[in-house]
This record gives sequence, C-alpha cells and structure tokens, in this order.
Amino acid sequence: MSSVRGKVAVVTGAGSGIGRQLALELARRGARLAISDVDDPGLAETAVQLRALDADVHTAHLDVRDRPAVEAYAATVAGHFGVVHQVYNNAGVAGGGRSVLDTDWAAYERTIGIDLFGVIHGTKAFLPRLIASGDGHVVNVSSLNGIMAQPSLSDYCAAKFGVRGFTETLRAEMLAGGHPVQVSVVHPGGVRTGIATAALGHAQQHGSAVTAQQQARTRTYNEKLLKMSAQQAARIVVDGVEAGRPRILVGTDAKIADLLVRLAPRLYPRVTVGLERWLFGTG
Ligand SMILES: NC(=O)c1ccc[n+]([C@@H]2O[C@H](COP(=O)([O-])OP(=O)(O)OC[C@H]3O[C@@H](n4cnc5c(N)ncnc54)[C@H](O)[C@@H]3O)[C@@H](O)[C@H]2O)c1
Repeated sequence: MSSVRGKVAVVTGAGSGIGRQLALELARRGARLAISDVDDPGLAETAVQLRALDADVHTAHLDVRDRPAVEAYAATVAGHFGVVHQVYNNAGVAGGGRSVLDTDWAAYERTIGIDLFGVIHGTKAFLPRLIASGDGHVVNVSSLNGIMAQPSLSDYCAAKFGVRGFTETLRAEMLAGGHPVQVSVVHPGGVRTGIATAALGHAQQHGSAVTAQQQARTRTYNEKLLKMSAQQAARIVVDGVEAGRPRILVGTDAKIADLLVRLAPRLYPRVTVGLERWLFGTG
C-alpha cells in the first residue's frame, strides 16, 4: 500500500505543470490535498481533475511570497484537515535570460522572492504541524540549476542553490533533533511545462523590452530542453518521497549535470558556456 494513503499533502503552485501533476499523483495514491496557486482558473481546473479522482480537496489562492498569508494558510489547512503530513513547496518561476550586468533588481527580487523565500515561508509555516503529525515530510523543489550554474540564469541559480542549502540544513536539523520529519530536495531537469513561456509573458505584461534573443531562447527551451512530461516527473518525485530519498534527481539531464559538477568542478563552467553558445548563440 502507498505510504501517502490517507496523508494530508500541501502542494503550492498546483495550478499547472509539475504542481498539478504532483497533486494528481498524490490523489491517485490516496492522499488528501490542500492545493494553492496565484492562478485561480488553473487551480480550479486542477481541483476539477482531483475531484474526478474522488480526492478530498481544499483550494486556496496563495502567493508564496506573502509570509503572513502563508502563515495564515498553514493554520487554515491544519484547521480544515486536523493534521498536515507533507508539504510540497513547488511554486516557482523561471526568471533568467540576462547577464548579471543586465539583470535588474526587480528580477532578482521576484525570482528569489518566489523561488527561495516561497520555499522558506512554506517550510517554516508548516514545520511545527509536520512534526506534530508524527510522520511528516518536507519536499522542496529546486532544479538542475540548484546543482549546476549556467550563464544568464543568476537570479534562478541563486534561488535554486539556496533551496538546496536551506533544505539540506533542515534535513540535518530534523536528524539532530530526532524529529519525525523526512526532508527531500528535488532537482528536475527539463520538464515540459509552461514555465519558460510564462516568464516571457510576465516580462511582456510588465512592460520590459523583450528582445528577439529572449524569444529565441524561450523557443529553444520549449523545443529542445523541456522534454519530460510533467506527469512522469511527478511520478518520479512521489516515488522518491515514498522511498524516503533525501535527493530526488528527475531526468537524465539532471543526473548528467550532477555527475559533471562533481567530476569536473573546474571544467564545468566552460561546458556550460559552450552549451550556451551552441543552444542560444550567446554566452
Ligand atoms: N519545468 C522545468 O523544466 C523545471 C525544471 C527544474 C525545476 N522546475 C521547478 O518546478 C517548479 C514547478 O514549475 P513548472 O515547470 O511546473 O512551472 P509552471 O509555470 O507550469 O508552474 C508553476 C506554478 O507556480 C505558480 N506560481 C508562480 N508564482 C507564484 C507565487 N508567487 N505564488 C504561488 N504560486 C505561484 C504558477 O501560477 C504556476 O501555476 C518550479 O519551482 C520550477 O522552478 C521546473
């Protein structure tokens, strides 16, 4: 029997992509779900799909950057279900596309605010409840770019390396304190979702000049790099959670990046520059 059966699982950013598929995979394995997103129509669609699986679902509009809102949300979910076992801090944005010299402060604040602080907010708000459950699990979504840095992704890499450091610290603390909470960090490689297109859409909506090069970059991501289905990625993550894996690498690309960085720490930046030139004609 699945070890998530009957558990209460919280999934942020569940209105599309990996988050929606995580919620569906958890529901198929018998979990009860608290799902949230800033994208209300996307979240409503996920809820419809979950209810078609007969899942017990609680939905909420939640911006993970908003610390008081995340804290209030944790209390609401605990009040609704009476217990919370697992939190999947998944909500995220792509950011990137410009060099450090050209990245503006707003981009750093947004990407780090959502991708790193969102994870910290969700973890801290739910942690006492996960400990109280007697069988908790924190699952924080980093990236291949939480292992390997790449040119033009300084905001995203700063956030995703941060997620890894934060999560590994938490794991050590849960072990040291003898707390009944497992901790996993997830490093997906390319997964076929709308994340790259959403980043371009955000830039356009907020009046940033979107260059032809950024558009070409998004196309390359969508056509060449974001390959694995979100459903398969979600299955790998939930399998990893059920197996109690502390690090969950999703996809061959993530596994290769992990090996490259370990085996050739001095060489790997040259490899990423070469890749950048080959894929995007920049770097
Ligand atoms: N797709 C990939 O190739 C890939 C690779 C590595 C890591 N990831 C990570 O996986 C996670 C999910 O990404 P995805 O690919 O499914 O993208 P996605 O764009 O399909 O989904 C992200 C979801 O997060 C939501 N979101 C954005 N800002 C939010 C905020 N402030 N508060 C709450 N929700 C917010 C969006 O509305 C969206 O529904 C992200 O953390 C991403 O960085 C994705």
